[in-house]
Amino acid sequence: MLFSAVQPSGLLTIANYLGVLCHWKKMQDSYQCIYCIADLHAMTAKKNIYKKKNKNGSTKTILDTLALYLACGVDPNKSIVFLQSQVLEHTQLNWILNCYTNLGDLFRMTQFKVKSKNENASINSGLLTYPILMASDILLYDVNKVLVGEDQKQHIELTKKIARRVNRIYKKEIFTIPSLIITKSGSRIKSLLDPTKKMSKSDSNRNSSIFMLDNIDLIKKKFAKAVTDSENPANISFNKKKKPGISNLLEILSAFKKIPIVELEKFFLNKTYLDLKLMIFQTVKKKLVPIQEKYFLYRRDEVYLRDILFKGAIKATKKAKETIERLFNLFN
Ligand code: TYM
Repeated sequence: MLFSAVQPSGLLTIANYLGVLCHWKKMQDSYQCIYCIADLHAMTAKKNIYKKKNKNGSTKTILDTLALYLACGVDPNKSIVFLQSQVLEHTQLNWILNCYTNLGDLFRMTQFKVKSKNENASINSGLLTYPILMASDILLYDVNKVLVGEDQKQHIELTKKIARRVNRIYKKEIFTIPSLIITKSGSRIKSLLDPTKKMSKSDSNRNSSIFMLDNIDLIKKKFAKAVTDSENPANISFNKKKKPGISNLLEILSAFKKIPIVELEKFFLNKTYLDLKLMIFQTVKKKLVPIQEKYFLYRRDEVYLRDILFKGAIKATKKAKETIERLFNLFN
């Protein structure tokens, strides 16, 4: 069984696509997949989906996210697709796991350090305990694989640590210890404007990220503005330290085209940065246009989308309840 999830905080980017979404369709052939829309995690953001004044705000971003899942090939008849907040056991297990997690481990999480620095004075404690809710998402379903991008690796390692601790204390295999799937290419996509930072859907500068639903002309403009370097003549080679902008563009192209970076380097010998950007744009356009078309078809049918979440929550709840029961049997 495999678990993967995305927060419905704003529109998804090509980093989410390359990191996880583009693999979801194929994973369904090898695993029973559980694809979650992590709306409770999205509540930790300052501009969180449930704080919006517009009453339909939360539903909108959730249904947008679901329609994108489907457009990327997720089949709700093969996989369990559900909304985190509709399966109450996630918050129930979250509390229990709180009591088996060391505070020091939470403070050591890189994502917490970065986010708490950005938010200065008013940090909500959900930002700190965020990885415990992730652990609950995963451990509820006895999954043996978790698919994430590189930025979530540390959180999954903590999940394993918590699971092992509980198993050790009770001398029983209560939780399945999951292993991590991080794909070789596409799992660490950087911002187009500051390639030392990750590409993120919550970046305040919209030109840093390509959103899955960006208009095609806008995508062309964003790639045109992407940071490169001033080497003369142009040198299209992979070197993360010395050439972070070009390396990121090569990584994006390699992940979309499924061609190793060394081959791209050979192809772009004596070519210009403009040539590189044009090829990336054409490649991304070819991939995103059909996804966008499917997205708009699915997005129109809200009844169908809500029905998927309704049925998904029933299936997920059944599995989640078994785990909670197993756990409470130990305590009683
Ligand atoms: P989110 O929405 O931030 O990211 C969703 C997935 O996209 C990956 N990702 C990236 N991959 C490559 N390059 C990037 N720049 C990039 N940015 C994001 C993330 O690694 C993630 O896999 N907390 C999770 C959602 C979640 C979850 C879980 C994941 C909630 N519960 C349980 C796994 C297991 C998150 O980061 O969402």
